[in-house]
Amino acid sequence: MITAEELDRIRIRLAGQVAGRELYVYDSVTSTSDVLRDKMMEGAPGGTVVAAFTQTAGRGRKGRRFQSLKGKGLYFSLLLRPRCRPEELSAITPRTAVAVCEAVEWCTDIRPAIKWPNDIVCDGRKLCGILTEAMPDPSDGSVCIIVGIGINLYQTDEDFGPELSRVAVSLASLSPRILPRESTMLETVLRCLDPLAAEFPAGHARALELYRSRCLNPGRDIRIISGTESRPARCLGVNDDFSLQVQYNDGSICSVSSGEVSVRGIYGYT
Ligand code: BTN
Repeated sequence: MITAEELDRIRIRLAGQVAGRELYVYDSVTSTSDVLRDKMMEGAPGGTVVAAFTQTAGRGRKGRRFQSLKGKGLYFSLLLRPRCRPEELSAITPRTAVAVCEAVEWCTDIRPAIKWPNDIVCDGRKLCGILTEAMPDPSDGSVCIIVGIGINLYQTDEDFGPELSRVAVSLASLSPRILPRESTMLETVLRCLDPLAAEFPAGHARALELYRSRCLNPGRDIRIISGTESRPARCLGVNDDFSLQVQYNDGSICSVSSGEVSVRGIYGYT
């Protein structure tokens, strides 16, 4: 939980940066991304952030539910109003993943990795999920992006439950010695996200380098899942546009993008 004093402190410390320039923290919402969408419709500027201690309808990718237990995780959404070419938008999610990894590393003694395209993983389990949604601003048709981020902070395996605990992990179980407060984590992630909110698409080359250094998939045997089809392949690397270069068993080489497919390791979640 974030106290009123902590919230004031975050606002003071982040003064002048874009990410978090308007920062709303609620006790309980349906989804921070829904609340932020309403604020966008009312004209909220890029960099606006909505966070909540719990979400009653937190959602993940592919229409999945996102468990949002009260005070156990950091749940927030960031509004971006990017000025870029449409093909550059796909870099936003992987760049968010890099920023979250850096924030976790600042606040703890762990170094998270990235499972393409944007799951943040430690010890083979997911520490953070990112959901990016694009929509037009009805006032002028410009593209708005809402990046929703859920970081597991204090959950135990019992909190996750038997199914989720096989694939999810929290900072508390990974880094019990150096465990940040929710407010510290929020402030640090917003600091790391500021270049994305303030300067995107600038900074692409550096972000790509950092992404490649953390991405788990290259060099591994994976399965490419598209609808009901699942094809074995080998991951060759991450392309300059953050798509994945893969080689199928027949020798053909393809680029796959996150909108089209998902990938699984051949052994379990990663
Ligand atoms: C995923 O891993 O499938 C993405 C999970 C994204 C969860 C976050 S929590 C804050 C924001 N609000 C939501 O309803 N979802 C995102």
